[in-house]
Amino acid sequence: MAYNNNSFKRFRVLSVLALLYLSFYTKTGEARRPFACDPNNKLTKSFKFCGMSVPISERVTDLIGRLTLQEKILLLVNNATALPRLGIESYEWWSEALHGVSNVGPGTKFGGDFPGATSFPQVITTAASFNDSLWELIGQVVSDEARAMYNGGAAGLTYWSPNVNILRDPRWGRGQETPGEDPVLASKYAASYVRGLQGNAAGNKLKVAACCKHYTAYDLDNWNGVDRFHFNAKVSKQDLEETYNVPFKGCVLEGKVASVMCSYNQVNGKPTCADPDILKNTVRGEWGLNGYIVSDCDSVSVLYDNQHYTRTPEEAAADSINAGLDLDCGQFLAVHTEEAVKRGLVTESNVNNALANTIAVQMRLGMFDGEPSTQPFGNLGYKDVCTPAHQQLALEAAHQGIVLLKNHGGILPLSNTRHKTVAVIGPNADVNVTMIGNYAGGPTLLALHVGTPHLQGIGRYSRTIHQQGCADVACNDNGQFEAAEAAAKQAEATVLVMGIDQSIEAESRDRTGLLLPDPRIGAILWVGYPGQAGGAAIADVLFGTTNPGGKLPMTWYGELPCKGTNDEHEHESRPSKRLPRQNLPLLQSPGIPARVLRSQLDRAKLGQRPEARPHQLQLSLTGTPYHCQNNGTMDGAHTVLVYSTPPAGKWSAAKKLVGFKKVHVPAGTDQRIMVGLQVCQHLSVVDQFGVRRIPLGQHQLQIGEDLNHSVSFHADLRGPIKSL
Ligand SMILES: *[C@@H]1O[C@H](CO)[C@@H](O)[C@H](O)[C@H]1NC(C)=O
Ligand SMILES: *[C@@H]1O[C@H](CO)[C@@H](O)[C@H](O)[C@H]1NC(C)=O
Ligand SMILES: *[C@@H]1O[C@H](CO)[C@@H](O)[C@H](O)[C@H]1NC(C)=O
Ligand SMILES: *[C@@H]1O[C@H](CO)[C@@H](O)[C@H](O)[C@H]1NC(C)=O
Ligand SMILES: *[C@@H]1O[C@H](CO)[C@@H](O)[C@H](O)[C@H]1NC(C)=O
Repeated sequence: MAYNNNSFKRFRVLSVLALLYLSFYTKTGEARRPFACDPNNKLTKSFKFCGMSVPISERVTDLIGRLTLQEKILLLVNNATALPRLGIESYEWWSEALHGVSNVGPGTKFGGDFPGATSFPQVITTAASFNDSLWELIGQVVSDEARAMYNGGAAGLTYWSPNVNILRDPRWGRGQETPGEDPVLASKYAASYVRGLQGNAAGNKLKVAACCKHYTAYDLDNWNGVDRFHFNAKVSKQDLEETYNVPFKGCVLEGKVASVMCSYNQVNGKPTCADPDILKNTVRGEWGLNGYIVSDCDSVSVLYDNQHYTRTPEEAAADSINAGLDLDCGQFLAVHTEEAVKRGLVTESNVNNALANTIAVQMRLGMFDGEPSTQPFGNLGYKDVCTPAHQQLALEAAHQGIVLLKNHGGILPLSNTRHKTVAVIGPNADVNVTMIGNYAGGPTLLALHVGTPHLQGIGRYSRTIHQQGCADVACNDNGQFEAAEAAAKQAEATVLVMGIDQSIEAESRDRTGLLLPDPRIGAILWVGYPGQAGGAAIADVLFGTTNPGGKLPMTWYGELPCKGTNDEHEHESRPSKRLPRQNLPLLQSPGIPARVLRSQLDRAKLGQRPEARPHQLQLSLTGTPYHCQNNGTMDGAHTVLVYSTPPAGKWSAAKKLVGFKKVHVPAGTDQRIMVGLQVCQHLSVVDQFGVRRIPLGQHQLQIGEDLNHSVSFHADLRGPIKSL
């Protein structure tokens, strides 16, 4: 991507403003007192759990051994109690950092030294970049800001982000928070963002603790009379393993996440937070989660009060702890666990196991290591929040996430010599808060840093005439159309900034329709919710200083059976039956005309080691790298998608994405690309029992648009292959 000098300079002006603003707050925030093991507290010296050289497992056991049952129970909830007799402060577990430290959740408090945090594009936009190093980098920046806020007493260290539910149904109001519909993409996103947030510190240490949520098969908030608290997702074992669980598995295995959150909904009639099969057996057993399992907020109460899953509240408390839940966001466990223990529904030893999982994470975060300022990241403070570099990354992320859906007749890019006056029309032309999407960070920040598409965007390139066109995004009357038309007539180009906002899709609000824009429009950019620098990024793409290389992370359905075709169980079967996953993306970026990217892949070969056992077999596409050529005049980035089609068989023969690689290709050059595939992970299909198998026969691999390969597995391959 190339930035022109203009946008660079203007951006610096914006950054200078930010620094001036922050300098009003010259005094540092109140430094956080140690959470536990304060070196100034003589009492704590004798405690083994405060011994920094003692292994964490021993420290945890020591601490739990000192607690009464009543104290333990008050540690099972998000607002964990203080234990003054042990020198331990209270702790609020609930903070959020979906695309920047967020003001959702009581753990973060903006204001004073921390008026806001950098707001990156909403996840659906960042996912469209298909750039895993960008995702990790954003995680690093967000956790710098989170640590800074923690040190300043303004946030916790446990962040209940990211949301990696599969966006199976595009009407889901929270689809914006997710990396989209594809399991491979979502899994890569989860692992990369979590690695960025948690840091790759040696020896099990955590920079902040991330949390992959909401496990599992959750993609309905409020639709057709059913809300998420009463939603029972009917999902086959095949679909669970093949689709819904994939990002969570990647998050735990590759991302080494420190927490998983169970969801509100039921899966096949069981609340996820009380299902030992999916918590204890799968997340902790099979995947080996090193961390804690937390409920969505009031999930445990929901399974009793709304779903009537158990007869008594004590049973609900016991069922969830016995299933493997370690922490309740809510008060339910604090209120009902003691009685559940007394009635013998849950043992104190199971309560201890839950605490061992939460306390170990606090210890890995350094919360039992005394003074925050003496610890790793202890130097981070308010000066490290919203830095010019962080704001620049928010702009880059928006650039990378924008998708050019249509560019008829090369109408883009605009030029400020040919398009001296641009009409900027639409209900989203002059908005700032809308750009951020939900789970935003910090009210003061919004007014300060967030650029609108009109003023901080197109207005930097051309003279603009602005008309709102409609009162709001729903656009229910045409009263303002005449003025908008008049504006368009005076301009050399018209940009309509339309679409939706949180009044159409949000948490607790699913969409009821999905309309495509008018076919007469010359060019279409999809920007999702592009974050604080989205206005600038949109204009940079329109005027060609940035070459858009994003791809949609979800299928764009032209028509959807939004109305009608209701059967009585529709809400229950919605995610598994109604919308079979399509290949992604349906509409791809056709590229700015000056840019033609062509893959010349004909020399690629698959390096196989057929003697190896299949689970070790690496299909290496790296032996002979293939090429991606940019014969255009603009530098650009291209994502090569690798699909596989298994041999026709009884489980599935559908083409699916198995890998992707984003590559930056300067104009007139040729870049080598390597993609690694793992046979069991990528070429397997899932049977009705949820077991992955590698079908024998010929698998087709499609690499980019220009190259097909086939790879065959035969019965004489020894090892755990199950023939179909
Ligand atoms: C946690 O929140 C509940 C409900 O607001 C309150 O009753 C309780 O005292 C709080 N506990 C602590 C330790 O702050
Ligand atoms: C951003 O939006 C808020 C709330 O809608 C508004 O008060 C503020 O003036 C806006 N800021 C800018 C720079 O447009
Ligand atoms: C780039 O390659 C494409 C496909 O081969 C070709 O159609 C186009 O004319 C080439 N463009 C230039 C500028 O060479
Ligand atoms: C991925 O993102 C990083 C960070 O913005 C950037 O430096 C890199 O060039 C991007 N990769 C590609 C291939 O565009
Ligand atoms: C590769 O295979 C796909 C479908 O399997 C087909 O659509 C495409 O045209 C093929 N491409 C080439 C270059 O043969």
